[in-house]
Amino acid sequence: MKHGTKYDRIAHLYNILEWPFEHYLFNYWRKEFITQLEGKILDVGIGTGNNIGYYPHNSEIVGIDLSKKMLKYSRNVDTPNKVNLILMDAQMLGFEDNSFDYVVSTFVMCNIYKPHLALKELRRVCKPGGLIINIEHLRSETKSISFIQDLFNPFTKYLLGEYINRDIVYFIQSSGLEVIETKNLKFKDVFKLIISRNID
Ligand SMILES: C[S@@+](CC[C@H](N)C(=O)[O-])C[C@H]1O[C@@H](n2cnc3c(N)ncnc32)[C@H](O)[C@@H]1O
Repeated sequence: MKHGTKYDRIAHLYNILEWPFEHYLFNYWRKEFITQLEGKILDVGIGTGNNIGYYPHNSEIVGIDLSKKMLKYSRNVDTPNKVNLILMDAQMLGFEDNSFDYVVSTFVMCNIYKPHLALKELRRVCKPGGLIINIEHLRSETKSISFIQDLFNPFTKYLLGEYINRDIVYFIQSSGLEVIETKNLKFKDVFKLIISRNID
């Protein structure tokens, strides 16, 4: 199976499996970090569309995902916003340079096969001075936690193509984006907000 389309297999279960996280954690972060964005926004790996309801009502959303079946659920989300959903690989975006005011990625960089390629693409399509908002889970700097992450990584990688031990801040910095804010959200530094700017 092509890497990234593993989500096709679990699309019908995704919102059920994620519900405890969504209910107790994720929805608060979506509310806090997404509702104030405006203009033209690219949501990378939009999945079943869990961010869609949080974007302000005058924004224009473009959502891309590698999984046709995840996108199918996104299409059912009720919103007054203009949302354009496209089957597309984040590692090879079909948009012109400087197309978006904001780029959002929530829990996606752990899934993308080559995150450095995707982040370069995010930078390319974001307007100069525009912001990239990542809410991700990543490798902890606490040794006891990263030990467990390393232990379970082969299983999550095999089952979902999900890498739970990535240093995503490093990947963001190496792509040439300027990290302007990081905030630990939960489980010490496992869930993190990372805001970076395209300084081109
Ligand atoms: C954990 S889900 C997150 C979905 C959503 N962003 C959310 O917050 O609920 C990860 C999503 O990334 C998508 N994905 C994985 N690799 C991708 C790629 N190379 N390009 C675009 N989407 C990708 C998967 O299909 C899946 O829908």
